[in-house]
Amino acid sequence: MTETKDKGSPSLSRRSLLKAGLASGVAAGAAGAAGAASAAGDPLITEIQDWNRYLGDGVDAAPYGLPSEFESEVVRRNVPWLTADAVASINFTPLHELDGIITPNGLCFERHHGGVAQIRPQDHRLMINGLVDTPLVFTMEDLKRFPRENHVYFLECAANGGMEWRGSQLNGCQFTHGMVHNVMYTGVKLKTLLEEAGVKTNGKWVLPEGADAAHMTRSIPMEKALDDCLVAWKMNGEALRAEQGYPLRLVVPGWEGNMWVKWLRRLEVGDQPWHHREETSKYTDLLETGKARRFTWVMDPKSVITSPSPQMPVSHGKGPMVISGLAWSGNGRITRVDVSLDGGRNWKTARIDGPSLSKSLHRFYLDIDWDGSEMLIQSRAMDEHGFYQPTKNELRAARGENSIYHNNGIQTWYVQKNGAVENVEVS
Ligand code: MTE
Ligand code: CO
Repeated sequence: MTETKDKGSPSLSRRSLLKAGLASGVAAGAAGAAGAASAAGDPLITEIQDWNRYLGDGVDAAPYGLPSEFESEVVRRNVPWLTADAVASINFTPLHELDGIITPNGLCFERHHGGVAQIRPQDHRLMINGLVDTPLVFTMEDLKRFPRENHVYFLECAANGGMEWRGSQLNGCQFTHGMVHNVMYTGVKLKTLLEEAGVKTNGKWVLPEGADAAHMTRSIPMEKALDDCLVAWKMNGEALRAEQGYPLRLVVPGWEGNMWVKWLRRLEVGDQPWHHREETSKYTDLLETGKARRFTWVMDPKSVITSPSPQMPVSHGKGPMVISGLAWSGNGRITRVDVSLDGGRNWKTARIDGPSLSKSLHRFYLDIDWDGSEMLIQSRAMDEHGFYQPTKNELRAARGENSIYHNNGIQTWYVQKNGAVENVEVS
């Protein structure tokens, strides 16, 4: 009878496992500098723990699963002084805690201008009107009978990093870069629905409208509407979260988050843009000359090192270190990410790992051997069209100091000898 099958004498098999564990633990400790704590005398190995001694919860203890109780720090956070109240406000994705490219649904940052609308899907309608042959109204059931598609896209608020425009301010990539999330959407192409209604030849713009109290509206050019926009009802395989526009939202790949209208209830077709609030007094970029750039839709290439970062200091001392981060571009795929350890003097090309999808977050790694000295770490993304991130000074030279939106400047983290990390600027 082998030990693994010997259910009758657990103490015997535990003793043998213990011996084996000790032997290999000591060997590993002696050989590898990066090895964990020495096994000898560690009560976590020599003593039986509660989770070993008692049965755990059975199935269905949590019909909808939640993260481990030991991950309670992994949450969205807001910056209370940023906005007057929580209804027209924003919170931030904890990028420093995540890996890979997908943002879990419960951690996607939220941006609401009039709070979260709670809509029974049976009560939701989507209207198409304006310059169309046949104005239409769809129920959720109707929409689910059109051919559907799945795509992973990042959504970035145009104001992401807005507080950092004039200098470094917030200590953590959650706050400097956390107005971005990346999920797989399921939905029907906007083109399919527009074709169903029949766009008249003078129909050149589309105005999506939200059913929330803010009734968000933005003008979208017809070329984009017919290209890759989706009308989506699922994120990462399950229904949209209420915060993300349940039961229906518009997906405008690569373009600023404000255009991704949530709680989507109407699509009006027109022959010119509407010049509504969100594309005049807001979401425009005031230049040094007093002129404002308008209709700056595309989110330019951008990246950030998520670890180490101010909320994710180095806890392990010198030796092997994994530098990790995210890169994205509204123009398409990321083809290259360079990382500097000395404030932009020298650069090394990082390794992009995981799916490399158009208009999606990309995960990069640089594996280094840290000598324990101070570092000024930066990342610089380049997309498939050769566009790359500017330094903060290059950005300010082009756009002045008045801007809030579209800050894609290179971020610097100062890694100190003791492993603490701070947001600084090297321009
Ligand atoms: N749609 C409606 N109806 N109401 C809103 O307040 N906020 C917009 C956009 N769509 C908004 C909206 C803004 S500014 C952004 S950045 C994104 O939704 C945020 O999407 P999220 O909450 O899923 O992160
Ligand atoms: Co926004």
